[in-house]
Amino acid sequence: MNHLSVVDGILHVEQLALPELARTFGTPCYVYSRAALGAAMQGYKDALAGRDALICYAVKANSNLAILSLFARLGAGFDIVSRGELARVLAAGGDAGKVVFSGVGKSATEIREALSLGIMCFNVESEAELERIENIAAALKKRAPVALRVNPDVDPRTHPYISTGLRNNKFGIAIDQARAIYRRASQSQHLAVRGIACHIGSQLLDAEPAAEAAAKVLALADQLASDGIALQNLDLGGGMGIRYLDEDAPVPATYLAPLLAATAGRSERLVFEPGRSLVGNAGLLLTRVEYLKRGTEKNFAVVDAAMNDLMRPALYDAYHDIVPVAASRHTALPYEIVGPVCESGDFLGHARKLAIAAGDLLAILSAGAYGMTMSSNYNSRPRAAEVLVDGAAAHLVRRRESIADLYAGESSVP
Ligand code: LLP
Repeated sequence: MNHLSVVDGILHVEQLALPELARTFGTPCYVYSRAALGAAMQGYKDALAGRDALICYAVKANSNLAILSLFARLGAGFDIVSRGELARVLAAGGDAGKVVFSGVGKSATEIREALSLGIMCFNVESEAELERIENIAAALKKRAPVALRVNPDVDPRTHPYISTGLRNNKFGIAIDQARAIYRRASQSQHLAVRGIACHIGSQLLDAEPAAEAAAKVLALADQLASDGIALQNLDLGGGMGIRYLDEDAPVPATYLAPLLAATAGRSERLVFEPGRSLVGNAGLLLTRVEYLKRGTEKNFAVVDAAMNDLMRPALYDAYHDIVPVAASRHTALPYEIVGPVCESGDFLGHARKLAIAAGDLLAILSAGAYGMTMSSNYNSRPRAAEVLVDGAAAHLVRRRESIADLYAGESSVP
C-alpha cells in the first residue's frame, strides 16, 4: 500500500499513527491517504500527457464524497452506474458534462435524470436500452448522447466474477451486431452517436487483453467511419490491476502504452474508466482484535471488522495483506482472521502468521477499492467510519453509522 510507513515500530498513514486514529475514530474504520489518491491520479495524467484524454473515475470502486471531490478538482470525469452515483458526483462538485453512464439495467427514471442533467454519454448495453433512451429523449425533446458498449469477446484472464468482456457475460452488445445498431442510431432524430465503449474486466495484470479488445474496437470505429459515422470518443474502460500480495501489477505508463500506441494519430478523444487502480492502494481497513481463540485444528483471531465491512475475501476468496499496527513480542502463530458475523464465510484472511494479542490493532491493506462501497448492515452491524488522512491532519469523511441509523427507515405495522 502507498503512503504507509513504519515509524518507531508503529504503522503510519502519511504522518499519522494508526493507534491515534483508532483512539479518535474507533474501529473498524477505513483510512485513506490523500497523497496516495493524488499520486494515483497523477500517474494516469502523466501517462496520458499530450493526448486528448479524459479519466472517468469508476465511482463504484469508492464513492465517498471526499474522494469524488478530490478527483473532480483534479479534473476527472466519472463513470457511473446508477442515479445514486450520479447524485454523489454532483454533490461532490463533479461536472455532469464529464459523466459516462454504464450498466445493463438503466431505469427510465435514471435515463431521464441523466439526460436532463446533461451527462456526456450513455454507454448503451443493449438494443432495448437504446430504444428506451431514444423514446425518453423524444419525450423530452432532446438528443441523447450515446456510445455502444461493445462486448469484444476477449478473455481478460481474471476472476470469473469480474470478467465482463466475454461473449457469455451479460455486458455490452456483441461486437458483430454493433455496426447495424450504430447505423440505426445514427439516423435517429433523438440520438447523437458520440462514441464507442468497451470494458472487459477488472484486476487485469497485463495489458494484452485490453490491447486485443482495443484492436477490435478500433476496427469497428473504422468501419463506422466508412459508413459515415464519425465518433468523438473512444472509451477503453478501466480494469488495471493492483498489487494485493506480490502481483507484478502494472502502472498506467506500462498498462496504457499499447493502447496509446494503437490509437496514436487518431482524432477521437480517449476515455478511460479506472476504479481500483486509483483508490485500492490508497486505503486500509483498521480493525481491533477482540479475542484470540486456540482451536484444535486452527487458531482464530476474532476481529471487530467482518465480511459486512470488507466482502472481497468472502465473495471472491480475495487476498488482502493483514499486518499488525505495532510490533510486539508475542509468539507468531498462524491465525484465521475472522469477524463477528454468523457465517463460516466471514473471514478476512486465512492462515496468517501474526504475533498478536487481544486488543491489538490490525491493518487490512489495499482496501480502498470495493471495500466500503460493497459493505452492508448484515447482522445489524453499523457501517464503519471513513477517515481521510492529509499529511498530519485526519478528516472524518463519513461518520460511523449509529444503531438508530440501522432502522431509521423502518416502521412497525399497527
Ligand atoms: N467501467 C465499468 C463499466 C466497470 O464495470 C468497472 C468495474 C470499471 C469501469 C472499473 O474497473 P476497475 O478499474 O476498478 O477494475 N467488486 C469487484 C470488482 C468489480 C468491478 C466491476 N466493474 C472486486 O472487488 O474486485
